[in-house]
Amino acid sequence: MQLDKAADPSLAIGAELRAFDDPATLLNDADFVLVRRLIADYAGIKLSPQKRNMVYNRLLRRLRARGMGSFGAYLNLVQAEAAERQAFINALTTNLTAFFREPHHFELLGAVAKARAGQRLAPMRIWSTGCSTGEEAWSLAMVLREAGCAGTIHATDIDTDVLGAAAAGVYRDERVSGLDPQRLRQHFLRGTGSNEGWVSVRRELRTLVKFAQFNLQTTPWPAQDRFDAIFCRNVVIYFDKEFQKRLADRFAQLLLPGGLLIVGHSESFPAAHAQFRSCGRTAYQRVTT
Ligand SMILES: C[S@@+](CC[C@H](N)C(=O)[O-])C[C@H]1O[C@@H](n2cnc3c(N)ncnc32)[C@H](O)[C@@H]1O
Repeated sequence: MQLDKAADPSLAIGAELRAFDDPATLLNDADFVLVRRLIADYAGIKLSPQKRNMVYNRLLRRLRARGMGSFGAYLNLVQAEAAERQAFINALTTNLTAFFREPHHFELLGAVAKARAGQRLAPMRIWSTGCSTGEEAWSLAMVLREAGCAGTIHATDIDTDVLGAAAAGVYRDERVSGLDPQRLRQHFLRGTGSNEGWVSVRRELRTLVKFAQFNLQTTPWPAQDRFDAIFCRNVVIYFDKEFQKRLADRFAQLLLPGGLLIVGHSESFPAAHAQFRSCGRTAYQRVTT
């Protein structure tokens, strides 16, 4: 799902909006430099200079919500108030996702889960690290159930807006239109009456997934049990190389020997890491030593 972070019906062209119609004037160079520094500090996200219009459009909505007349005043508020800092982060993240996006990753996990099913092993532990609106985590839960493999999915994101949608587990019909009909019947309930046009994840899946907020930039990470698989897909694209290297180190520590680290289609940050070996397209395995 892609939330439209700039859309706001109240932003239709109107006289009172004239003051905002020139991004270069209102989001001045110093404001934009500060936005880039703050989002890098808070979330590790490095915004390129080309993102200026995107920043303007997304933050304008927050300025209006908080009755602020300038970006300068708004950025002071972001630094002074935790709630607005979170709203600022939520506005600047990119949340594009889909059910079974990059399906080869789910095939790989399905094969591992099938091989484990029926064996006397601990339930599989999987982490979806930038889960956005939940499609990745629910897809993982479907794979576990279909394989008959016990497990849990720990699904986290820095963005509190998307986590609300993820945990609700309710999606528009068109979001699931690409799913196999049998899979759809098995894992979703169809809305009727006023819920027509929506589907809801079944209870059997809900018991497998826990959603929580987590910022990958947090230091140190809280102690936790190790994972059989970590999905960190399409999350690190805006992080710099040094942060990516730090993440690969942390994921290596948190994966069980032989565990999987799955990254997005344009990402390869574990490739050069001594503790990972490639085991498929954008899939890495924690070496056993
Ligand atoms: C493009 S979505 C990817 C969703 C899903 N993993 C997929 O591949 O379909 C990237 C997600 O990473 C999250 N994100 C960005 N920076 C983060 C950080 N520092 N810590 C945790 N999540 C972060 C964003 O909020 C966003 O929901």
